Amino acid sequence: MTKSVVTGVAGFVGSHLAERLLGLGHFVIGIDNLSTGKLENIESFKDNSNFSFHQVDIRNKVLMKKILNDFQPLDYFFHLAAVVSVPFSVEHPEITKETNYSATVWILSRSRDTRVKTFLHAGSAAEYGNETRLPIKEEYATDETQHLSPYGLTKYLASKHVAASTRPVGISLRFFNIFGPRQDPSSQYSGVISRFIDQALSGNPLTVFGDGEQTRDFIYIEDVIDVYLKAAGIDLGTGKVIIPTGGVYNVGSSRSISINELARIIKTIINPKLPIVHLDPRPGDIRHSLADITRARKYLSWEPRWKIEDGLSVTVEWYQKRVLNEKVW
Ligand code: NAD
Ligand code: UD1
Repeated sequence: MTKSVVTGVAGFVGSHLAERLLGLGHFVIGIDNLSTGKLENIESFKDNSNFSFHQVDIRNKVLMKKILNDFQPLDYFFHLAAVVSVPFSVEHPEITKETNYSATVWILSRSRDTRVKTFLHAGSAAEYGNETRLPIKEEYATDETQHLSPYGLTKYLASKHVAASTRPVGISLRFFNIFGPRQDPSSQYSGVISRFIDQALSGNPLTVFGDGEQTRDFIYIEDVIDVYLKAAGIDLGTGKVIIPTGGVYNVGSSRSISINELARIIKTIINPKLPIVHLDPRPGDIRHSLADITRARKYLSWEPRWKIEDGLSVTVEWYQKRVLNEKVW
């Protein structure tokens, strides 16, 4: 049976990935310290006999080594666990470096010994700092890039290290703004889509920071899971697989939309009468972001399938059900 490791499995993206891998018949070893992740995210598959969950910090080498040894040989390693909050990374640069960079380097070296074929790292558009050339190409992130936070810097260093690996094949997917069910809207720094939906369903005004003309490239979670599987060289059920090509790949929709337009679409879906309030611009906010996905199209044969409106409808439906179930964040 094919064995995949998913770190950050109780998080937004990791839980969707594990669910899809289990659906494809993989055995999944899930690792998470539950710092930002939630057991609720793995509720639907935690009792699957092909799933083994370990509440462990990826920086704990003794426990990590034991888990990886116990389950070897391993086939695929999806490494998503990270300090994800930019403000937290500014306040705790050392923890961020240990988690996002040092632990990644160590885990990659261990995965070599456990016969992993493909190692996939979750990179970020934050690796580009305040890049103004649009659309953004992978080569724009360099050692000279002025990163805006320890989060951006450590993700860049980890991506560079992973992309240089040939055994296992190292791939870093640089995600732009991901959205979908299970994204946690509870903090001031949560993704804008989860916040707007949460505000709208509570009957509160949508809070737009600044003039709202800043733009982002939003990518729906299902497209993200597709690119993960394609990049790893896993059959999506079509019988066609690619031989994984190592390196860094942007993952976005290659379309950008303003925050004002986003607010308008969410209002239309939930309640057209909702007011929008403009608050002060968020300090350090980048103005525009747009991914050039030529590399992913060419080497991974991947194409985003989801229109933002469709992804938003499914996401809203999920949050609505959640409210009905009276589960509060
Ligand atoms: P998330 O916070 O929902 O998931 C991260 C998971 O990692 C959480 O479950 C958390 O508990 C776990 N984790 C954190 N530190 C850990 C540690 N030391 N040991 C073990 N587990 C630990 O975030 P997400 O949105 O699902 O992000 C997943 C990955 O994708 C992250 O690496 C993130 O940087 C990257 N990414 C996400 C986005 C996005 O838009 N969501 C954009 C760019 C990059
Ligand atoms: C995202 C990441 C961040 C990463 C950056 C660069 C998330 C949650 N954040 O930030 O970790 O460093 O990409 O890759 O994915 N906004 C509002 N109202 C709100 C919330 C946000 O107007 O209530 C605006 C923000 O000011 C911003 C835009 O919406 O202009 C998007 O915000 P956000 O979802 O936090 O994503 P990024 O800023 O792109």
